[in-house]
Amino acid sequence: MVKATVLGAAGGIGQPLSLLLRLNPIITELSLYDIVNSVGVATDLSHIPTSQKVTGYSPSDKNDQTQLAEALKGSDIVVIPAGIPRKPGMTRDDLFKINASIVKGLVNQVGLTCPNAFLCIISNPVNSTVPIAVEQLKKLKVYNPKKVFGITTLDNLRLEQFLSDTVAGSIAPKDLFSDVITIGGHSGETIVPIINSWAKGLLDTEYEKLIHRVQFGGDEVVQAKNGAGSATLSMATAAYRFVSNLLQALSTNNTIKEVAFINLVPSLNGYDYNVPNGVKDEVEYFSLPLKIDRDGIKLVEFPPNLSPKEEELVTIAISKLKADITKGVNFVHGPKL
Ligand code: NAD
Ligand code: LMR
Repeated sequence: MVKATVLGAAGGIGQPLSLLLRLNPIITELSLYDIVNSVGVATDLSHIPTSQKVTGYSPSDKNDQTQLAEALKGSDIVVIPAGIPRKPGMTRDDLFKINASIVKGLVNQVGLTCPNAFLCIISNPVNSTVPIAVEQLKKLKVYNPKKVFGITTLDNLRLEQFLSDTVAGSIAPKDLFSDVITIGGHSGETIVPIINSWAKGLLDTEYEKLIHRVQFGGDEVVQAKNGAGSATLSMATAAYRFVSNLLQALSTNNTIKEVAFINLVPSLNGYDYNVPNGVKDEVEYFSLPLKIDRDGIKLVEFPPNLSPKEEELVTIAISKLKADITKGVNFVHGPKL
């Protein structure tokens, strides 16, 4: 029996993600929560014939936590795409003011109701919302560092697609899966593409263009949608890739490989860990390759043999990430005096 819950299920990401989850045979119960229209979405999905139970929950008023608690009860995986998306001219950090409170409130109820669930945060700015989630769970004394993930998979999808485009389709994007990855964070220069030997086949100008396109790929969609939001369909696909992989780990004895933005505090965390001092002494969060089993993260591994260019990108990412992380931590605890 596996219960998966989507918080923000009626939104641009929430709906297609819920559809994909509806079609996953490992999930026996799908729980959809949103402040609007989640019952409609659940009813619609319930007409798709599968053996899964699907239920929608919405609060009766803005103080009602009972429906959220009911939606979360017994969850094995919770995915959070709740929150506002960007409009042209905005940075992801401009979403902080609204989304920080949304994520804190939802994660608080996760901590009270299903603290042992895998928690996957999509809401932006991920570089800050993940620290908010972690600090809120710590406050409740239920933080399990092996099970909290910021979803950066869309950056990985973009890298696979854009690199395949750059080499004129001579390698299919699917063959680049896990051969090339992004590490760091999820905004602009905090995103670091690691493309290994593929860089040798590219002109310098092609390589620079590729890095820029991966780092600022979100802007392309925001501009093209022209006020109607940001990436939703590609994001739902990305989140589904991550969650369906987690479901494999959860429902079998297999260890799976993924990349996600996680809290890097080894002495507290109890997972094995291979991250250079230059990274772990500088930032408490970083997106990195992970090995995950049913109990959560087993191993965090910094990619080996970075090129000097990739090292340089990591240094820039670290310098930019610090402020984003601190902003998230301070949102929960207030600034250190
Ligand atoms: P959207 O506005 O279409 O949907 C958001 C949904 O959240 C809405 O249905 C809204 O009712 C719901 N919501 C708001 N407050 C809520 C609450 N307190 N509880 C439950 N539900 C609530 O937005 P979207 O396009 O789906 O994007 C959602 C978020 O995902 C944004 O913050 C966006 O920036 C982010 N995003 C992240 C990535 C990533 O790579 N991590 C990619 C794309 C978008
Ligand atoms: C993305 O990378 O597409 C998302 O983070 C949404 C955005 O605001 O760009």
